Amino acid sequence: DNPEDLVKRAPIVTVMGHVDHGKTSLLDAIRETEVTAGEAGGITQHIGASEVKINGEKIVFLDTPGHEAFTTLRARGAQITDIAILVVAADDGVMPQTIEAINHAKAAGVPLIVAVNKIDKLNANPDRVKQELSEHGVLIEEWGGDVVCVPVSAVKGEGIDHLLEMIILVSEMQELKANPNRPAMGTIIESEVDKGKGPVATVIVQTGTLSVGDSIIAGHTYGRVRAMFNSKGKRIKKAGPSTAVEILGLSDVPEAGDKFIVAKDDKTARQIAEKRQQ
Ligand code: GTP
Ligand code: MG
Ligand code: NA
Repeated sequence: DNPEDLVKRAPIVTVMGHVDHGKTSLLDAIRETEVTAGEAGGITQHIGASEVKINGEKIVFLDTPGHEAFTTLRARGAQITDIAILVVAADDGVMPQTIEAINHAKAAGVPLIVAVNKIDKLNANPDRVKQELSEHGVLIEEWGGDVVCVPVSAVKGEGIDHLLEMIILVSEMQELKANPNRPAMGTIIESEVDKGKGPVATVIVQTGTLSVGDSIIAGHTYGRVRAMFNSKGKRIKKAGPSTAVEILGLSDVPEAGDKFIVAKDDKTARQIAEKRQQ
C-alpha cells in the first residue's frame, strides 16, 4: 500500500485474563447489555467479537475465554489485536492465565491496559494486584512504569468510561491505518455449521473491504460470500478495515485463527483451497 492510500482504522482490542475474572461481564458493561446473567460463572466457548462506538470512535472487542483449555485461542487473539485488556480480579489477584495473557501480549508486541476488576468486593485488594503484576514485569504508571491501570467494577459499571478513554488514548498513539480500497484480508475468529445456513464464520477484516459476492479462501475452505452480518446482526453488503462480520457461503468451516484472502474468482479460490487440502 502507498502511504497516501492509508486511512485511520478502529482499534481491535482483545480482553484477556484468568477464568471468571470478569472479561465477559466487562464487555457486557461496555455494551451496556444484560447478556451477562445467562453466562455468569460459565465457560465462554469461543472468542466473541463485538463493536461499540464511543463518542463517535469505533472500537472492536474480542472476548477470550480464561479457561486453561483455550491457550491457542488466546495466543491467536493476541496476534490479531492492537491493544490487550488484561482483566485481573481484585479479590483473586494474578493467576496462571493472567501470567499467560501477559506472555501472549508480550510475544505479540501488543500494549497492555490493566483493568483491575471487582473493586466492589469487600475483599478487593488492588494494591496487591499491582504488586503481583510488577513481579511479572508489568509495571503500572503509578509505580514508575508505562502500563495504564484502571480500577473497574463490571457489575456496578464503575470505571468503564475511564477504561474506554484509556483505550482510545492508547490506540491514538498507535496511529492505526489501513487501505480500504484493496481486496480484503483478515482472520477467522470463530466458525460453526448452522443447520439452516450451512458453514458460518465470524471474521475480522483487517485491511481492504470485503463485499458480498467476493470469492474468498479461508484456510482449507473457500466460497463466495453469500451474505454478511455485522456484530449487531444487521445485514450489510460491505465491511471495511477493523470490522467484525459473520459471513455465509463457505464450502466448509475454517479454523479459528485461519487467515482469509479474496481470490480473483470462484475457480481460483477453489483451486487454491483444494491445493491446501492435499
Ligand atoms: P471466563 O470467560 O469463563 O474465563 O470468565 P470471565 O472472565 O468472562 O468472567 P465472567 O464475566 O463470566 O464473570 C465471572 C463471575 O464474576 C460472574 O459471576 C460475574 O457476575 C462475576 N463478576 C464479574 N465482574 C464482577 C464485578 O465487577 N464485581 C463482582 N462482584 N462480580 C463480578
Ligand atoms: Mg467469559
Ligand atoms: Na466465567
